[in-house]
Amino acid sequence: MHIGVYTSGGDAPGMNAAIRAVVRSAYHHNIPVSAIIGGYDGMLNRNFKPLDLRSVANTIHRGGTFIKTARSTDFMQAARRKDAYDNLKNYGIDALICIGGDGSFKGAQCLYEEHKIPVIGIPGTIDNDIFGTDFTIGFDTAVNTALEAIDKIRDTASSHSRLFIVEVMGRDSGYIAMDVGIAGGAQDIFIPEQPNNIEACIQSLKDSRSRGKQYSILVTAEGRKPGRAYDLCEAIKKNTGLDAKVCVLGHVQRGGAPTARDRVLASAMGAFAVEALSKDYSHHVTGIKNGKMTLVDLKETTTKQPQMRQDKLDLARILSV
Ligand code: F6P
Repeated sequence: MHIGVYTSGGDAPGMNAAIRAVVRSAYHHNIPVSAIIGGYDGMLNRNFKPLDLRSVANTIHRGGTFIKTARSTDFMQAARRKDAYDNLKNYGIDALICIGGDGSFKGAQCLYEEHKIPVIGIPGTIDNDIFGTDFTIGFDTAVNTALEAIDKIRDTASSHSRLFIVEVMGRDSGYIAMDVGIAGGAQDIFIPEQPNNIEACIQSLKDSRSRGKQYSILVTAEGRKPGRAYDLCEAIKKNTGLDAKVCVLGHVQRGGAPTARDRVLASAMGAFAVEALSKDYSHHVTGIKNGKMTLVDLKETTTKQPQMRQDKLDLARILSV
């Protein structure tokens, strides 16, 4: 076996730790590993590079991905996937480990179905929106980065008795918003999985002010509509007269050194992915469920969405008075 490992889609802190774990555990199993630089674009451009034991030294603590990543549009065409497969075959790669999110797994699923190349996915995305795992690599770091920012914003919010609307990442998913909102003591949390209830938020702001609350923080996921936080801010200002400001955290949430939790998760998933390939699993994704490593069918991760936890939504509501 010769494993090709690649990172794809948005980078996430902990991807390097996962690559390191793949290389080092493959060495343990006597399996050579090459990097496919730049994900699917690298497959198409024959951008391959052998990774030996020392090539992953001094990477565990670094954010981003040292083997590069991309969102490839070319790879969406079946003819280009055939080119990519031919390039892999000519180079000698006969098994894949794909570190990325659901879009990356869709590409991997196509490769598996069309060319029967075994592929194991490792969920690497700050969004935490992969079916079959409680956590994805990078989520914990992103939440902690956003939380650090909110704690700072809180200083200004309290000093000026001001309302802040903080926009966190998550085009289609509210997991970051939910955890950051709970941990940051947000008064309300807006997520793409649910319609915005602006009237209820305005009422709750008025009620809490009448109970003596002087400042508030609202957290919103970015969602698909640009300027969501600004629209929210205008509606609130108009209906409450409160002094309100928007803070968009953006890509700072994707960078930085991975937390210990992300490094441990990435290390465990990297090793588990290699073990899965060595046991002839061929179309699966590593996951962690209730503290235990699991394998989920690759296709399921591309067709199913994890359920937003109702208990967390309820908790946020109860604590936000
Ligand atoms: O996939 C992670 C993510 O950070 C999303 O939360 C966000 O909507 C998207 O990527 C942004 O992607 P890009 O960096 O390509 O604009």
